[in-house]
Amino acid sequence: MNKALRKAVIAGNWKMNKTPSEAKALLNEIAPLVKDADCEVVACVPYVDLTTAVEAVKGTNIKIGAENAHWEEKGAFTGEISTGMLKEVGAEYVVLGHSERRQYFGETDETVNKRTKAVLKAGLKPIVCVGELLWERECNITEEVIARQIKLDFFDVTAEDMKNVVIAYEPVWAIGTGKTATADQAEEVCAFIRATLAKLYSQDVADGVTIQYGGSMNDANAAELLSKENVDGGLIGGASLVAEKFAAIVKAASV
Ligand code: 13P
Repeated sequence: MNKALRKAVIAGNWKMNKTPSEAKALLNEIAPLVKDADCEVVACVPYVDLTTAVEAVKGTNIKIGAENAHWEEKGAFTGEISTGMLKEVGAEYVVLGHSERRQYFGETDETVNKRTKAVLKAGLKPIVCVGELLWERECNITEEVIARQIKLDFFDVTAEDMKNVVIAYEPVWAIGTGKTATADQAEEVCAFIRATLAKLYSQDVADGVTIQYGGSMNDANAAELLSKENVDGGLIGGASLVAEKFAAIVKAASV
């Protein structure tokens, strides 16, 4: 179908790892290993690492992203970061709705929707995470859960804005567990996400959206996952903190 038309995006989600000096060292290690990549290479880093990270990747093909953003431009929101702040330091991507934020920090589809719209309005690219819990998969409601998240997270997001959206399918049971979804399971849900987008927008819009898989993706399983028609990239946690592993995933996406 249209896989070749979509840009593969391999993004590291560093989570709460690496101080600024450690971030610089890791990016310096990654940069030469991914310089010939035929895909988009992104590192989403803690807020305090952003300035150092943007500086470290100057002149390379690595883009920098944040791990969240607030929907208001400014105001009394202690501890939050606005899209304007992220833009000024040179971030280009923002991870939104990660399951860790949904599970531990009260993130809801309503707040993910607000953040998504604010990020798009600011000209940043959201990587919006969706995924089912193990219990939901066992109850055979994976598709209902995913459809609900897609409908709510993208409520009121225009077809034009969807061109700048990346979606990450991250089954919650596969995150940090070493338990990867099989390539067929990943393909099944990524295809379902695309079908849902086709119903909400159009086939054209759906075909243009990059859909990543995330959840224990590593150098050993990336090629098989990425070979699937609807798996256009990866959002990588643990393996993105090891330069050689991350570079191997980038290579797997570049063929
Ligand atoms: P792991 O790759 O460590 O399982 O994390 C995946 C993830 O949550 C990326 O956002």
